[in-house]
Formats: sequence, structure tokens, C-alpha cells
Amino acid sequence: MGMSKSYRIGVIKGDGIGPEIIDEAIKVLDAVSVAQGFNLKYEEFLLGGSAIDATGVPLPDETIKGVKTCDAVLFGAIGGPKWDNLERHLRPETGLLGLRKEMGTFANLRPATVYDELVNASTLKASVIKGVDIMVVRELTGGIYFGEPRELNENMAFNTMVYSRGEVERIAKVAFEIAMKREKRICSVDKANVLEVSQFWREIVEKMSLNYPEVELTHMYVDNAAMQLIRSPKQFDVILTGNIFGDILSDAASMLSGSIGLLPSASTGRGVGLFEPIHGSAPDIAGQGIANPLATISSASMMLRYALEENGASDKIDDAIKKALQDGYRTGDLGDFDAKEIVSCSQMGDIIADYSSK
Ligand code: IPM
Ligand code: MN
Repeated sequence: MGMSKSYRIGVIKGDGIGPEIIDEAIKVLDAVSVAQGFNLKYEEFLLGGSAIDATGVPLPDETIKGVKTCDAVLFGAIGGPKWDNLERHLRPETGLLGLRKEMGTFANLRPATVYDELVNASTLKASVIKGVDIMVVRELTGGIYFGEPRELNENMAFNTMVYSRGEVERIAKVAFEIAMKREKRICSVDKANVLEVSQFWREIVEKMSLNYPEVELTHMYVDNAAMQLIRSPKQFDVILTGNIFGDILSDAASMLSGSIGLLPSASTGRGVGLFEPIHGSAPDIAGQGIANPLATISSASMMLRYALEENGASDKIDDAIKKALQDGYRTGDLGDFDAKEIVSCSQMGDIIADYSSK
């Protein structure tokens, strides 16, 4: 008998609903790994508010060192009112941004898909969103989030939006490679009618497209892209964009699917990948057991696929989510839409664990 494969997973539960949703993702990972014959070992790390409470800083050194030794990192969510009034360098969000930078996860993949079972859950008409399948490729470790100089004083405040050629080239390459495996269409989103950094972005993306003659490249200003996402989302296949535009557009795109509680993300780049739901820590519902764990479970599925190449296990989870929705199980956020049974966070975890291990 051969030894079964074993992976070390860094786990960051975080704040708010983070611990609840991560527990469900681990429940599912345990079930599917047993069924598929591989082994997962977990190691927990602190980040965000809970790290501030325990160590005084949002991103402890042990976290930075520890995650780099893992095969992949699964992350819940951070932040909450308790830590909102801290100075910027001590805020939970600063910890997350620091972690992304330290891990070199410059490519953030945010799929926005619409489950057929939930076409009525969106605020948009079913005919507009049925069949939507968009991949937002967001640059994650540059742009205005990280640009220097930055300043906040009594009389003025500023940030700097900056991209180097290398930063744009590498994210563009990721988007083209992904497009080659999809419908071979990229819409690069910028604000080139106003910003030099966007003119630069556009020129580099154009140049990269010469290496991918099969991929159709278009450009769109970000304001128009926000409008088009709502007006006619099926026109998009891959959206390639910078850090802040991607942040905003991916929240907008999440509403096509009906609930922000459904959408996963994968952040990859230099080495170890970081997998997290696109939603926040939802402090208003934390601890009540009503959060939707599907975005995190879906992120765990992306982890299996992109980091561990356990595609069979990933397929099992994706199918289990579809089946649970088909069978009418809904967490409260989706309770109004063709629900047969409203379930808790942990019941949803049980159902997906059960379905995905069959
Ligand atoms: C996200 C979040 C983060 C971001 C925050 C929490 C710093 O909104 O992952 O989209 O802006 O990147
Ligand atoms: Mn965001």
C-alpha cells in the first residue's frame, strides 16, 4: 500500500464570523480528503483583531513565518467595530494587506458565477443573470493600496496610485493564461481617460496580448464597467483590473450571484496561495450560527484545485454545493429564494460534508 499524500494547511480563522465559517470549511475538507484518500494537517495562525488582542499587532511575525511553510492557507475574515478606531498601522485590515504582500499573492481570482438554483435570488432579472460566469482577475499587492508616499494629517491627506511595468506584466500574464482556458475574452478595466497609471496599464496589457493572438482583448473605463456589469453581465468572460477597481467591481459582481456569502477567491503569485471568501467578517451576525459558509467552503475547493491539484476533491465540493442548493437548503441570507429548508451555518457544513464525501 502506498502512503497517501499529505498536505499542511495554514488556517486563519480571524474575527467575526471567521471562526464559524472556517470550522465548516474544515469539516468539509476532512470529509472529502478521507473519501478521496489524501491527508490534511492544519496549523492555526493569528491575524487581524484576534491577533491584536493576543499579541498587540494585527500581523504577528509567527504568522508571516508560519504561513510560508504551508502548502496553502485558508482564511476566514478579519475586522470589526472593536478595532475600528485604531491607527491605520494597527488596524486588522493592515494585517491582511501585510500578509498578502508578504506572501506575494499578487493575483486575486474572484469568480462570479450564478447558480441556476438561485437565479431568483439576485436583485436583477433572471434573464439578465442566468448563466453568468465571470472571472475577475484583480491585482492584489500594488496600486493605491500600497503606493508611497501616503499621508494623513490635519490639513491634507493623500495616497499614491503606482504600478511598475513588472507588476502589470505579471498580472496581465495571469489573466491571459486563465482566458486561454475559458472563452478567450479579456476585458481590461482602467481609468485611462484620466489617470497616467491607467494609460501605462493599458499599453502593457496591449503588448502582452501580442503573445496571445487567440485571446480577444477589449478595454473599458471602470465607471462604464460598473454599469455594464449590472446592465448586461454576460458580455464578460475575464475581467482584468487593478487593486482598488477590482475590489469595487468584485463586490458589485457578487450581487449577480444573489449573496456575497457565496463567492470564493484564490490569491496566488510567488509561492503559497491564500484562499478566502470575498466577504468580510460580518460582526453584526457573528456568533449566531446563521452565516453562510458556502463562500468559504468554495474557497477551500479553489485551494484544492489551484494549490494542491486535487481536482477530483474540488469537483466533489462544487457538485455538493450545487446539489445542496438544488435540494432547497438555504442559509438565512438566501432564505427567501426557493428554500425548502432554512439551515444554520453548521447544518450547511454537515450537508456539504455529507454530499461531497459520496
Ligand atoms: C477584500 C476586502 C479587503 C480589500 C479589505 C478587508 C482590506 O475588502 O478582500 O476585498 O479591500 O482588499
Ligand atoms: Mn473588498
